[in-house]
Amino acid sequence: MVALRRLAAARVSTLLGTAVALSGCAMSGTLAPRGPDAQVAAGIWWYMFWLGTAIFVGWLAIFVVAMVRRHPIDADVEDERRLHQRFIVGGGIILPCLVFATLFVYDLWGINALPRGDEVVVDATAYQFWWEFGYEQPELVTANELYIPTGTDVEVRLRTDDVIHSFWVPQLSGKRDMIPGRTNTLTLHATEPGRYLGECTEFCGLQHANMRFEVVAVPPDEYHAWLDDMVQPAVEPSTAAEQRGYDAFMTSSCAACHVVRGTPADGRVGPDLTHFASRRWLGAGAAPNDRAHLGSWVVNAQVLKPGNTMPPVEIAADRLADLLTYLESLE
Ligand code: CUA
Repeated sequence: MVALRRLAAARVSTLLGTAVALSGCAMSGTLAPRGPDAQVAAGIWWYMFWLGTAIFVGWLAIFVVAMVRRHPIDADVEDERRLHQRFIVGGGIILPCLVFATLFVYDLWGINALPRGDEVVVDATAYQFWWEFGYEQPELVTANELYIPTGTDVEVRLRTDDVIHSFWVPQLSGKRDMIPGRTNTLTLHATEPGRYLGECTEFCGLQHANMRFEVVAVPPDEYHAWLDDMVQPAVEPSTAAEQRGYDAFMTSSCAACHVVRGTPADGRVGPDLTHFASRRWLGAGAAPNDRAHLGSWVVNAQVLKPGNTMPPVEIAADRLADLLTYLESLE
């Protein structure tokens, strides 16, 4: 009896513990929706949570009653058998059917309620292990930060350059796979301005966990101002150090792998660096974009993100300082 009570107490504390842990990590993601799609997902989540809680509490009540109830000696065996049968049919067949049926209807309604507009269209291409975002009007490419206008249906065309990845912005949408040779689409709609964390949710290699991006939702006028800014070619070096850094960039392996629009650098292997300094993160969320981390990244990106495709760069200390100064000027 004591052991059974302990078991019941352990089940309750596990449930509460799980609920607290889930609410802690989920409040900043799925359960803090900022768009209609995520709203639907959060609604279904809460529905399942409360339904599961009700079923668990019901089960617990029956468990407790069964433990404390004494079997009457003069009980009618036939009556007991009928009661057991009703219990099995009700609790084992009718109740699960009702639960699954309501969940199915809720899901169908949810799928129908998802936004499907394409007022703005953006291309998202996944690479091991970073993201490229392409805009058509005006035509430009950027990396690891996806700007979208608020209150607008943004159709994201999802492709991959190598293996299967999966695109997920928990506060704005559900997940969708990016499959080689295929284009999937997903509609993002942010009701409020903000920075929303996005991540890859399909295991894609060594740095799958460091394959993040940010969706930056801004009011439409700010979005258009951002586009006007981004479509500009890179700023030209304006100091002697920037000029030396520019020369170092163009004569090293950097230019072979990265694009800096308006310069001879036109490598298509790594992210476009035309407005590199405007981004908050390095290596798709691997480290903050500051001078110390950038220095470490340029010299040997394998330290911060082992397994990514950027090779170490052999460069003298003074040349490196100039190179960092140039990169930091690329607003
Ligand atoms: Cu890309 Cu996981």
